[in-house]
Amino acid sequence: MKGQLETIYHEGCEAVQKISDLKALEEIRVKILGRKGSLTALLHGLKDLPSEKRAAAGQMANEVKQQLSRLIEKRTVELKNFGWSSDMKQNIDSTLPGRPPEMGRLHILNCTLREIEDIFTAMGFAVVEGPEVETDYYNFESMNFPAEHPARDMHDTFFISDKILLRTHTSPVQMRLMEEQSPPIRAIMPGKTYRVDDDATHSAMFHQVEGLLVDREVSFAELKAVLALFIRRMFGEEAQLRFRPSFFPFTEPSAEVDMTCVKCAGRGCSLCKGTGWMEILGAGMVHPKVLRAGRIDPETYTGFAFGMGVERIAMLKYGIDNIRLFFENDLRFLEQF
Ligand code: FA5
Repeated sequence: MKGQLETIYHEGCEAVQKISDLKALEEIRVKILGRKGSLTALLHGLKDLPSEKRAAAGQMANEVKQQLSRLIEKRTVELKNFGWSSDMKQNIDSTLPGRPPEMGRLHILNCTLREIEDIFTAMGFAVVEGPEVETDYYNFESMNFPAEHPARDMHDTFFISDKILLRTHTSPVQMRLMEEQSPPIRAIMPGKTYRVDDDATHSAMFHQVEGLLVDREVSFAELKAVLALFIRRMFGEEAQLRFRPSFFPFTEPSAEVDMTCVKCAGRGCSLCKGTGWMEILGAGMVHPKVLRAGRIDPETYTGFAFGMGVERIAMLKYGIDNIRLFFENDLRFLEQF
């Protein structure tokens, strides 16, 4: 009896493992465990054994039955999940092209940021980063916004404590860089910035790219040349710039820079409110007080700086009319880029 049980067990295991469709597996189950199966017949034969052998043989036969049942159950699940029945196999067209795996891709803001970085690094600018949690000193005071100065109201600020805040612009990185490095300095400073803002073109978290160039005899003409080149590379050869006088505490003179409207090419449309121009960044010559705070002598060195919103550049370049689309992670939007 022991030998027969071992044979049933080993042959059963081997057959179950080899089986690749459910119908054949059921046939094996019936052949071994069914009413007229080989193991069932052996179990019936137990009663004919001498009583001293019956208990041990009965225990072994039950173990074989349990193990084979478990094995068949496991194989059934495997075949149900992954297996192909012979009918299905006949219908497989192995010449059909496979489904390409879904590829991840960069977010449109990262693509825009990389494009901006590529344009400036090609002009010899380094890329420098600074902290998003800033001190009042770097964000405001060193940039010539004294305490209580009304210009602070332009930046509705998230304060963490009296003197610690989420930076409202990337300009504080200028100051950290000037403290660390003596001229010539030529760098862009990308990163996240935060303001209490929320509408179709303003978000509480957004990205800016700051630019700073400090050297001997740097002039406003060079600022114009660098920005004109940037705009042409970013938006195409036709794109024109215009400078409007403006105010930032850390630059003098200061300007807001507009480019020809991407939608109407300057003819005037709803996007540019009929003017043919769209504001794209702030810029100016670094204020002597800011150079001095950065331990740079304004009698020897001059510099220019600019700051642009990355979302704004992407919105203009790709015709996106609501800033929230960048942050909602809706694949229908993201997959268009
Ligand atoms: C500044 O932040 C200055 N630091 C820029 C600068 C740097 C001027 C160096 C001179 C020299 P402003 O507040 O205008 O400036 O912001 C610059 C750009 O950031 C804006 O043109 C806009 O594109 C973007 N921006 C500002 N606030 C938001 C916001 N809440 N959401 C999205 N983009 C914003």
